[in-house]
Amino acid sequence: MKIILAENYLEMSRKAADILCAQITLKPSSVLGLATGSTPIGAYQELVSRYQENKVSFSRIRAVNLDEYQGLSPDDQQSYAYFMRRHLFDFVNILPENCHIPNPQAQDVKEECLRYDRLIDSLGGIDLQLLGLGRNGHIGFNEPGETFMKGTHCVALSQSTIEANRRFFSDKEEVPRQALTVGMAPIMQARQVLLLVSGKDKAPMVKEAFFGPVTPWVPASILQLHKDVILLGDQAALSEI
Ligand code: F6R
Repeated sequence: MKIILAENYLEMSRKAADILCAQITLKPSSVLGLATGSTPIGAYQELVSRYQENKVSFSRIRAVNLDEYQGLSPDDQQSYAYFMRRHLFDFVNILPENCHIPNPQAQDVKEECLRYDRLIDSLGGIDLQLLGLGRNGHIGFNEPGETFMKGTHCVALSQSTIEANRRFFSDKEEVPRQALTVGMAPIMQARQVLLLVSGKDKAPMVKEAFFGPVTPWVPASILQLHKDVILLGDQAALSEI
């Protein structure tokens, strides 16, 4: 694992954009695994700026998002599909048909999960997987539990995740209780993983995930077994390691 320390959120976001742009330069048709949440927003802003300055092109990029809330339409402002358009896709030259996200409105959820796994396989797997870290150690929405789930699945969000996501909704009752998420297989098979962490509240989990035992009760701990992980964080998030 490589650990990159950034002074603050802005520097972390710039360095994340550097790594993403380097990947795109090396392989313009890269398959990027993308995350939502507050952590990558700065990196997406940087990517948009660099695109506007003609420093990077997304014309051949394929994007595969990690997860989506169950029951929300892509036009719902709380959906992750909407988040990706608002923070990245609407402002760069990525083709809409190359932007993928699990469809939580599918009639047959099991079939949708299988479709998403087949899609990732058909793209040749993920070149660079961008991740955030849940305060409970989740990556994607792989929540703590007895086993690591391999494939895309429907998950009941943990109380801690519902609490953490509460800040994005006006009413607690509106926070979705379920989501579709990719499993650990495509994350672990990604050729490189870039995990971003920012803020003091992530510091205890960074320590537990990367320096504690590998256990499904701390889903991100599985990344200790990945051969090419970059942990990029600001001083506050990396303060306990
Ligand atoms: C989002 C995702 C989640 C978040 C995690 C951290 O697509 O997969 O695992 O990365 O919940 O969220 P923030 O960045 O809001 O702290």
